[in-house]
Amino acid sequence: MEIILADHAGFCFGVRRAMRLTMEAGENKEEKTRTLGPLIHNPQAVDRLQELGVGIVDTIEEVEEGTVIIRSHGVPPEVLAKAEDKDLNILDATCPFVKKAQENASKLYQEGYQVIVSGDKKHPEVTAILGSTDHQAVVVEEEEDLEKLPKNMDKVGVIAQTTQSIKKFKELVTKLMDRTEELKIYNTICTTTHERQAAAGKLAAEVGLMIVIGGYNSANTNRLAEICDEAGAKTYHVETAEELSRDWFYNIEKVGVTAGASTPNWIIKEVVSRMEDIKKEENVEKLDSKAQDT
Ligand code: F3S
Repeated sequence: MEIILADHAGFCFGVRRAMRLTMEAGENKEEKTRTLGPLIHNPQAVDRLQELGVGIVDTIEEVEEGTVIIRSHGVPPEVLAKAEDKDLNILDATCPFVKKAQENASKLYQEGYQVIVSGDKKHPEVTAILGSTDHQAVVVEEEEDLEKLPKNMDKVGVIAQTTQSIKKFKELVTKLMDRTEELKIYNTICTTTHERQAAAGKLAAEVGLMIVIGGYNSANTNRLAEICDEAGAKTYHVETAEELSRDWFYNIEKVGVTAGASTPNWIIKEVVSRMEDIKKEENVEKLDSKAQDT
């Protein structure tokens, strides 16, 4: 069995930056440090940060002093304003690509466009983008969201959640073209997402089995699993090495591995190492059964 790791698997630049800033802040034990929501959508990495003493709060109201870290997904402007009013030490780890999406949404809104966001309604990044439009933007996640919009619209500006699949974004743009007088498009899908998805899809088309590693609560990991599945590979999404089942690898010649943008390297290494063990066990079994046949 050949194990092939996809290009661009694991931490993206925005998550790596957020982790570095948070770990540095966590090392400063004199000041209480909290992240506003779990820093990244990976429970194992979040546990490690908690071991360093970095706590998690759900709302800014819970913080009275110390440092508050804004995660890579960003926050709506009103949340940032509240943190400033409280005179908290703000460490803004919002990914620059997410900042750009917020700025584009705000610009479109100021220019009088009905802003439409292609993404997950409940994702914190999307909530932050909505905040940049005074919460007037509409999120299209499913076909039915689009159906609720008027059939004819004057000025529409469309942007994407940074981790949206390019396929879904293109589909939405094409449908909006039939309904609008004027359509302004900002492709705010981040480059690394696009590269990661393309590499995963390409690899999935060449192997019999794909293992996608990342938090079950990670939108970009779930998308990778969808893409691999659509490319025709039998696909399993796991968070940790313990979840791998030997049965999946039976009679598989090539297995591909990819990981979401919030999956730490040490988890990828553990998964690949467990797969190497399974491979060795299989080889031993094959040799044993050959010996018995002769
Ligand atoms: Fe930023 Fe793209 Fe990562 S938006 S957080 S670099 S997936």
